[in-house]
Amino acid sequence: MQLGLRAYDAGRPPFPSRSCNDDSRRAGTTWRTSVTCAPVRSPAVSAWELALYRFCRWFVSFSLPRLIMYANSRPVASAQTGTHEKLAEIVSKHANTEFRKPIAPYNRAAFDVAVVAWQDAGRPPLILDSGCGVGLSTMRLATQFPDHFVLGVDQSAHRLARNTFWQGEPPSNHLCVRAELADFWRLMHDAGIRLARHYLLYPNPWPKIGQLQRRWHGHPAFPTLPALGGRFECRSNWRIYIEECALALGVLGVAAVSVEQHLAATPLTPFEQKYRDSGHGLWRCTSTFA
Ligand SMILES: C[S@@+](CC[C@H](N)C(=O)[O-])C[C@H]1O[C@@H](n2cnc3c(N)ncnc32)[C@H](O)[C@@H]1O
Repeated sequence: MQLGLRAYDAGRPPFPSRSCNDDSRRAGTTWRTSVTCAPVRSPAVSAWELALYRFCRWFVSFSLPRLIMYANSRPVASAQTGTHEKLAEIVSKHANTEFRKPIAPYNRAAFDVAVVAWQDAGRPPLILDSGCGVGLSTMRLATQFPDHFVLGVDQSAHRLARNTFWQGEPPSNHLCVRAELADFWRLMHDAGIRLARHYLLYPNPWPKIGQLQRRWHGHPAFPTLPALGGRFECRSNWRIYIEECALALGVLGVAAVSVEQHLAATPLTPFEQKYRDSGHGLWRCTSTFA
């Protein structure tokens, strides 16, 4: 197992490539068509035109929509005005009931790959980036903690395959795998793995009142989290999500949990950057699990 491996997906064929090659092939086709219709030109002019064409195409299809859409994301809207009234009851129920859903084979395969990569790195302290999205935070954490191994886990192959615009050589002490977190946490727990740090950054808020059990703290797998140990940090642009997360940890018997506003001077994730630049309040819940 090479630590240079950046992303693993057990369930699907290799990630779809959106590389420059595909782009230039398409651009090349269009150019060849236009050459046959146009007067003969010198190769130097043709190269400039091709470059200009490619730039305009990239700008209009990729950069312009992002410029228009950027920094105008809406804050979370919800009919809920405080922590959910059923939260404590649901968390206690989950803490006292075994979560029996069978582990999906693709999650087990991803877990095995992750453990081998970690072992090949010499089993340094482990950081888990749960719901890592495109994996930018995983790489940033790997750079920030060079003597740790950072594991990014996300269920979305599409997100994992997206270009993170990481500048330079990616850090070798990280791996991103495609897996579903509830299974992955349980596999870690069953294998007796202990974390040094655990990040749950900008999980989907599921803000409707009836969606409590879709939020991580309302999920049957949530009681597994404190058992994984380490310094835990959950961030969100919805204050209620963070307050609920803290409340749920309290129900599970975690003593010192703090809730605070987070300024994100240097954003760790793309969502953090987008929310911060849109002027949202950012919040975090932290605790150290024994
Ligand atoms: C709002 S995005 C945040 C991504 C990243 N942490 C960031 O801040 O840019 C939430 C991410 O959680 C992932 N996710 C949601 N439910 C998941 C699950 N059950 N297992 C694994 N990943 C999940 C989604 O695919 C998505 O990438």
